[in-house]
Amino acid sequence: MLAMVPAKTLGEGDTPLIEISQGLYVKAEYLNPSGSFKDRGASLCVTHACMHGYSTIVEDTSGNTGIALSMYAARCGMRMRVVVPRDAPEGKVKLLRLLGAEVVFAEDRGSASRIARELASLGEYYASHLTNPLFIEGPRTIAYEIYEQLGEIDNVVVPVGSGGLVLGIAYGFQDLLKLGLIRRIPRIVAVQRCDVAPLYRAIYGLKEPGGDAWLADGIRVPDPPRLNEIANVVKHSMGEVILVNNEDIVKALSELVEMGILVEPTAATAFAAYTKLRDKLAGSTVVVLTGSGSKMLSDLESILRRTPR
Ligand SMILES: Cc1ncc(COP(=O)(O)O)c(C=O)c1O
Repeated sequence: MLAMVPAKTLGEGDTPLIEISQGLYVKAEYLNPSGSFKDRGASLCVTHACMHGYSTIVEDTSGNTGIALSMYAARCGMRMRVVVPRDAPEGKVKLLRLLGAEVVFAEDRGSASRIARELASLGEYYASHLTNPLFIEGPRTIAYEIYEQLGEIDNVVVPVGSGGLVLGIAYGFQDLLKLGLIRRIPRIVAVQRCDVAPLYRAIYGLKEPGGDAWLADGIRVPDPPRLNEIANVVKHSMGEVILVNNEDIVKALSELVEMGILVEPTAATAFAAYTKLRDKLAGSTVVVLTGSGSKMLSDLESILRRTPR
C-alpha cells in the first residue's frame, strides 16, 4: 500500500529564463538548489522512495545526480549511499560526504553499477541516473516553464549524456502540442562531446571525429540505454547534433563569465553549440544551462586563466 507523502522539495524548478540578446534566452537551471537540473528528478525520486517506504537510496555517480540526491535524501532524513569508482575526484567525494552520503568505492565504473544494482536487489531504492524514468519526468517541467515564460519557441539547445534531460524536454513540448498550446515542437539541438557521441553515430551513421573534450565530464556516456528513443525525438523535431571540444567549451565559459553567468564546463557545451550554429538558427532560441560553476570554483579559475581573451 502506497503511503501518501508530501512532495520532498528544496525549492527546485521555476528557474529564470534570461534574455541575452534579441531572440536568445538561457534557461538558468544552474540556479536549482544543488546547482543543477538534476534536482527536478532527485526531488521526484526521493518522494517516490518515501511513498514506497524505502529508508535508503543508492546511486552510482559522484556527479550532479549524486550531489542532488544526497541533498534531497538529507532533507528527508533518508540514508544515501553513493557507489563510485576508486578514481572518483576527491573534491566530489568530499562534497558527497559533507552532504551526509556514505561513499562506497568500487574498482571501476562497471563494478560501481553492479554493486548499486545488488544493493537495490537487497531493498535499497535505485535512483539510477541512466534508467530511473523520474530523471525524465523531472525535466519535462522545463518545457512547461519555457512555455509559461516565453510562449512558443523555435529552437532549444540541450547537452546530452544519458538523455534524461533531452527526453524530458522533448516529451514536455509534445504534451504542450497535444494540448494545442503550441503549434510545433521546437527544433532540438542536441550537444555531445567530439570524442564520445553515440547520438551523433545513431543519427548520422558516422563515427565521431575524436579530439579532447574531457572538460565536459557530465556528458561522457558512451552507451546510453535509451539511445534510439533519444535519436527519435531529435529527428522528429527536425533537430541536429552538434559536437564540441575543450577549446569550444573554454571559449563559451569565458563568454558566459563576461555576461555574469558562471556555469560548469558541461553546461557551457550548450552555449558553445549555439555559438557554432548562431547564423543558421532562425527565430527564438533557448539554451539550457544545466549546472553551476560554483561547485568547482578553483577548477574554473585555472581553466579560464589559460584562456586568451
Ligand atoms: C551539468 C550537466 N549537464 C548535462 C547533463 C546531461 O544530462 P543527461 O544525462 O540527462 O543527458 C548532465 C548529466 O549529468 C550534467 O551533469
